[in-house]
Amino acid sequence: MAGESLLPPLPNYGYKNMAKKKPVIEFRNLTFSYQLQEIPALKNINLTIYEGEYVAILGLNGAGKTTLQLCINGVIPNMIFGDFEGDVLVNGLNTQEYPTREMAKIVGMVFDNPEFQLTQTSVAEEVALGLENLGIPTVEMHPIIEDALETVGLDGLQERSPFALSGGQQQRLAIASALAMKPQIFVMDEPTSNIDPIGKEEVIAVAAKLNKEKHMTVILAEHEVEVIAQFADHVIVIHEGEIILDGTPHEVFAQVEKLEKIGLRVPQVTEFAYRLEKEYGVKVKEYPIKIDEAEQFAADTFKK
Ligand SMILES: Nc1ncnc2c1ncn2[C@@H]1O[C@H](COP(=O)(O)OP(=O)(O)O)[C@@H](O)[C@H]1O
Ligand SMILES: [Mg+2]
Repeated sequence: MAGESLLPPLPNYGYKNMAKKKPVIEFRNLTFSYQLQEIPALKNINLTIYEGEYVAILGLNGAGKTTLQLCINGVIPNMIFGDFEGDVLVNGLNTQEYPTREMAKIVGMVFDNPEFQLTQTSVAEEVALGLENLGIPTVEMHPIIEDALETVGLDGLQERSPFALSGGQQQRLAIASALAMKPQIFVMDEPTSNIDPIGKEEVIAVAAKLNKEKHMTVILAEHEVEVIAQFADHVIVIHEGEIILDGTPHEVFAQVEKLEKIGLRVPQVTEFAYRLEKEYGVKVKEYPIKIDEAEQFAADTFKK
């Protein structure tokens, strides 16, 4: 019959897979140099980040992690200028053409030093600030603020001065301020590097919650490889402005020699398996990256 397809219907697993893998951020041949700098801070970056991924960016100081993140929210090249070649697309929108103010509603960002991000006299006002900038009426702010503070575990501290909070609480407040704007993508630039160990765990747990429960795409620059191994599902390694590894945590951390050559660590359990292989000829099928995997690896290796 006319108009009716004679082909069998497509199996729906294909559709499901496609739905799962929706690109949200695409770097296409991006090369960027800061003004008056001869050496590009980023070179030939081609990268796709999919919706809902928890992406860790790993690299030495000066590798280009912050620069890469500032390209996602469009601050580069719209507010920080330089030589910008190639394209960055967020939700298919070209960052060079889309207004940075509007992009801030899609991409939330927190930085390494929580104190510097806080300016208000109370926790509630701190979260309200971004909403005021968005033009949200005061009556509508209350539930949004409550919700953001609850998500980061700061409910009940609305009236507290941000400066009376611990480092971990301050960073979670900075996250709540960004969260109130309901971004779809959360970019975190070494958010735990200036806070104590307990604060670090709190912040990492909140980042995981945003990803798992709120289904946000999280992009985290982070030094602690154990944290990356535990939470990330996509790892990017940048070295001297270039992406040298891009894959799952297992794929990336299996490159022990390559990582150590440039001065980056791998998780301790991975290092352990690597040494057993190199020094004792132990067969390693897949390098463990987490404790439970290491336990399994040890059980398989030493059973006999
Ligand atoms: N505002 C800037 N002006 C000029 N050069 C910069 C600026 N910010 C960073 N750079 C340079 O760009 C390179 C990448 O820096 P950055 O992205 O901050 O690395 P990371 O975040 O990995 O430490 C470094 O060589 C750094 O010195
Ligand atoms: Mg940085």
